[in-house]
Amino acid sequence: MSTVVETDVLIVGSGPAGASAALALSTYGVPNIVVTRYARLADTPRAHITNQRTMEVLRDLGVEQEVVAQATPQHLMGNTTFCTSLAGEELGRVRSWGNEPLVQAEHELASPTRMCDMPQHLMEPVLVNAAVARGTRLRFQNEYLSHTQDADGVTATVRDRLRGDTYEIRAKYLIGADGGRSRVAADARLPMGGQMGVAGSINIVFEADLSKYTAHRPSTLYWVLAPGATVGGIGAGLVRCVRPWNEWLIVWGYDVNAGAPDLTTEYAESVVRQLVGDDDIPVTVRSSSAWTVNEMYAESYANGRVFCAGDAVHRHPPSNGLGSNTSIQDAYNLAWKLKLVLDGTAHPKLLDSYTAERAHVGRQIVTRANRSIRETAPVFEALDGLSPQTPEQLWANIAARKDATEAAEKQRAKLREAIAYKVYEFNAHGVDLNQRYPADGSAAIVPDGTPDPGFARDPELYHQPSSRPGARLPHAWITSGTRTLSTLDTIGRGRFTLLTGIGGEAWVRAAEGQEVEITAVVIGPGQQYEDPYGDWARLREIPDAGALLVRPDGFVAFRHAGAGPEAGKLLAEDAGKLLADA
Ligand code: FDA
Repeated sequence: MSTVVETDVLIVGSGPAGASAALALSTYGVPNIVVTRYARLADTPRAHITNQRTMEVLRDLGVEQEVVAQATPQHLMGNTTFCTSLAGEELGRVRSWGNEPLVQAEHELASPTRMCDMPQHLMEPVLVNAAVARGTRLRFQNEYLSHTQDADGVTATVRDRLRGDTYEIRAKYLIGADGGRSRVAADARLPMGGQMGVAGSINIVFEADLSKYTAHRPSTLYWVLAPGATVGGIGAGLVRCVRPWNEWLIVWGYDVNAGAPDLTTEYAESVVRQLVGDDDIPVTVRSSSAWTVNEMYAESYANGRVFCAGDAVHRHPPSNGLGSNTSIQDAYNLAWKLKLVLDGTAHPKLLDSYTAERAHVGRQIVTRANRSIRETAPVFEALDGLSPQTPEQLWANIAARKDATEAAEKQRAKLREAIAYKVYEFNAHGVDLNQRYPADGSAAIVPDGTPDPGFARDPELYHQPSSRPGARLPHAWITSGTRTLSTLDTIGRGRFTLLTGIGGEAWVRAAEGQEVEITAVVIGPGQQYEDPYGDWARLREIPDAGALLVRPDGFVAFRHAGAGPEAGKLLAEDAGKLLADA
């Protein structure tokens, strides 16, 4: 073991968390190396739902259009269907992922981006290619083994699986983005809550032309209530579209106490046949793998110079489609902070805000995803389908809902209600967009002293824009000459942005004089940007001359209601607090 390789940030893992950390750091000009265990990126579809917040992150990192070009578009995602098999009886549908007309309007109002379905084996190359093109040094077949840290940096021991030897990488910071069995998180002794292995699941990737059963009710998800579907798994059997309508992934449960079944092609085909329900359709099984449903989250995301992101710190089932979204958002939160600390603009204390901001988001999404599994049980319950003794009994219970009896009418109502309740899994716009960072817990947010009005509607279902410190900058369409752009297009690219309006000249002058780069943006009639629809004026919650300082990741850092001779002093003080007085 002789070579020592040096870099600023070492990233372990090339999944959504590691790849987006690399992409953001390289975009900001921070030298980084990614080591990843295998000779390839993800070779199965895995995570896929890509929500608006993630699309905003990708927009800022310059890869949104590439993702849109490859992803299944939102309008083909929206008929989440419950059935006895794809060819069998349909029990009901939920308009999903922003496709219910009122929710669709909310999606349009909330963001310049659209959600889409981007399977992980397509997403990872987009992120990794862009990262490498911008300077990331990527080492395939390099496995992290251990690390030590001291006052100046981290030394990781890595095995080169191609050469068969080990060597050291010396970095100023280490990011463990090594997934649900994170060795980095274990070595850093990150405290974990919850438990692993609460249920057993199998993924079966297969090809089959199922357009006959899907094109008329286009959806990302088809849930199958069939005998055995309540054993383990994620609430019911799932036929998930990978590419419409001939590439698919089935999720099917197993009893975690009995262990995973033998994943032979015959076994996989039998599950596919059961859930598709049409033996005449040719099916080619590509792969099958077993995994477990986890309910675990880290209480702290960092130890000294070691930070973890993604599944390394939040482990949960795919319900609500939060895995890769949250992983990418973790990385985006961390990258700009590392950049400012590494270039000496911010004190390392700024990095404490990573745990303060992201750990409660991680806990929330782990809880939400597991709750969503449990919320499928009432669908079975409505059909007396939780514990039928035989398949015949289950089919009879399901058929009974068609009777012209009072009991059947009640059953139909119960079923409609149970299916409609699944909006908390399939149309939870608030879960996607309402993340708020605690102004009193994070050093990277300066509270403005105003009382928090809370959420006017269910915060899981409905997005509520806010310009309060700790909230994501609201989106509004503004113009610059003939160009229409989002307020979110004026921010990002690794720098702070100060948004003000007419009368806010003192803020603009103050922004110019700061040590940290702050771009001033003035919105108003005759200014650099105009607000012809008046949307921005309605959303910004401050008068024209007030100011919002927006962090590189799009979250409001501070807000002031007016400008005055004090603006320069206030901005300097607040920026000083944010950067922890480097
Ligand atoms: P991720 O697990 O994607 O990446 C970890 C990376 O670290 C990999 O590149 C790995 O090779 C690397 N690595 C691990 N140990 C290392 C070491 N010691 N040294 C170097 N590199 C190391 N989600 C969903 O929403 N729907 C789904 O259907 C599925 N299905 C699914 C199937 C399978 C088989 C898995 C493993 C996961 C899923 N998921 C999923 C979960 C989803 O994939 C997950 O939430 C995200 O990939 C998390 O991204 P991360 O980057 O955190 O970890």
